[in-house]
Order: sequence, then C-alpha cells, then structure tokens
Amino acid sequence: MAGRLEDKVAVVTGAGAGIGLATALRFAEEGARVVVNDIDPAAAGETVGRIAEAGGVAQAHPADVCVPDQVEGLIDAAVERFGRLDVMHNNAGGARPAPLLEIDEEAYRWQIALNQDSVWFGTRAALRVMVGQRSGAIVTTSSGAGQMASPGLPVYGMAKAGVQSLMRYVAQEFGRQGIRANAICPGPMATPGLLAWLDTLPGGAEAFAALQPQGRLGTAEEIAHAAVFLASDEASYVNGVTLPVDGAVSAILASPRPT
Ligand SMILES: NC(=O)c1ccc[n+]([C@@H]2O[C@H](COP(=O)([O-])OP(=O)(O)OC[C@H]3O[C@@H](n4cnc5c(N)ncnc54)[C@H](O)[C@@H]3O)[C@@H](O)[C@H]2O)c1
Repeated sequence: MAGRLEDKVAVVTGAGAGIGLATALRFAEEGARVVVNDIDPAAAGETVGRIAEAGGVAQAHPADVCVPDQVEGLIDAAVERFGRLDVMHNNAGGARPAPLLEIDEEAYRWQIALNQDSVWFGTRAALRVMVGQRSGAIVTTSSGAGQMASPGLPVYGMAKAGVQSLMRYVAQEFGRQGIRANAICPGPMATPGLLAWLDTLPGGAEAFAALQPQGRLGTAEEIAHAAVFLASDEASYVNGVTLPVDGAVSAILASPRPT
C-alpha cells in the first residue's frame, strides 16, 4: 500500500531529537524522502541512520536555522538531491524559561531568533521553490505557549504566536498557488528538551504529568501523526489553521470542581 506521503520530498528542521526526530521517522515511514536538519551533525546523522535501517530514504543536512544563508543552503540541498520540495516542517525551537523582568537582551534575542526568525527564513526559502512548483505544504511547530500565557515563557510565547500568524498570512497569499501553511500547537510533550527543564523543578516530570487533563505528558509521536496529516494531501483543504495537539490543555478553564 502506498504511504500517505509517497513521492513527496520533505525537510524537517531540528530533526535530531524529540518532535523533529519523530516526525522525520514518520514522514519516511509514509514514503517521503526526508532531508534531516539539525544544528548537531551527529544527531542528524543518527536520524538518517534510523530511517535507512527502516528502509527509508533520507539525507542529513546540519545547519543553524537562525542563519538565513544556512537555511537557503538547506532548501537548495533538498532540491539538488531530490529535485523538488513538497513539505517544509519548521520545527526547531526552544525556550529559556525565566520571569519576564529577568530576561536580558541576549536571552530575548536568542529566543526570537530560534523560534521566530527561523520560521520566517525557512518559510520564505521553501516558498521560493513551492511557488515555482505551484504546490507545497508548510507545517510549523508552534506551541500552546503561543496561545495562552505559560509562566516563564513570555518571549517564547510571543514568538510562537507570531509564527501562527505567519502561517495564516502564507495561507491567504499563496492558497491560489497550491500552497498550504498550518501550525501545530503541542502541549507538554515528553521530549529531551522539555524533560531537561522539568527535571530542574520540584517533583520533576512526574508531578507535572499528573497535573495534565489526560494525566500524562504527550509523546513526540503524537505530534508527528498530526504533522503527517497536515503535510499530506488528506489535508488538501486545511489551510491557515492552528491545531492544538495538547490533551485538552487549551480546552479547560482552571476553576473549582463541584463535589
Ligand atoms: N516538547 C514540548 O513540550 C513542546 C511543547 C510545545 C512546543 N514545542 C516545540 O516543538 C519543537 C521541538 O521541540 P522538542 O521538545 O522536540 O525539542 P528538543 O529540544 O527535544 O529537540 C530540538 C532539536 O532541535 C535542534 N536544534 C536546536 N537549535 C537548532 C538550530 N538553531 N538549528 C537547527 N536545529 C536546532 C536540537 O539540536 C535538537 O535536536 C520546538 O519548536 C519547540 O518549541 C515543544
């Protein structure tokens, strides 16, 4: 049976760990040829190795998504190797949680660069190819912190809200050219990035997981499944949306429970 991404070429950024790794593996499983980006060359290489072991096709392309020339190089490499670009998953991102008044200019600029500039550069570089093809799907990993205020994440949240907006602008400007752009808002997912932070807090990951509406953290694979859908032709009329995949975190208002 043909995969849901058969014959498509996909770029996934930050695909050496967590959500990007899970998405690159799922994309390949569904038949896509995947260009695996990460700032860490060894991590990118490991993801490619796992895809190859499973019988898929992938190429590593280490690059820093905050640097425009490197992002252009990433897209050029995808087109050079595979001849086209069908899916751009702007996924790399990260936060440095801190109270608002303690965030200095360096930490501010670092978070804007990694979570917002990267998506701007990645989206524009991908669009240049997709406009020529008159087809393509852009999927951006935003965050629940871009929908609601999450303590300690004001800059990250601001950037993640910005990229949701960019996906809507792309949808309105490029829909007639066969291009779709959507954002996913993960809730708390058990990835190396989140777990490293939770480990520093009282009670760690276990205590935080118990607070979630489904009584657990999400998994990177649960975001990857949503990314496959948005990248595939099954989502051909899904454009400009922000999709929460958060186990109801964004659906529930904190309030007293009746007994
Ligand atoms: N894990 C969560 O709970 C959660 C929740 C909401 C949103 N997100 C978002 O999901 C995305 C992935 O998060 P994760 O938890 O899987 O992260 P992670 O920290 O587990 O993995 C991130 C990967 O990105 C790579 N990376 C970091 N900076 C890079 C750069 N400048 N260029 C290229 N690659 C870079 C890292 O080397 C790493 O392999 C991020 O955009 C994050 O903000 C995560």
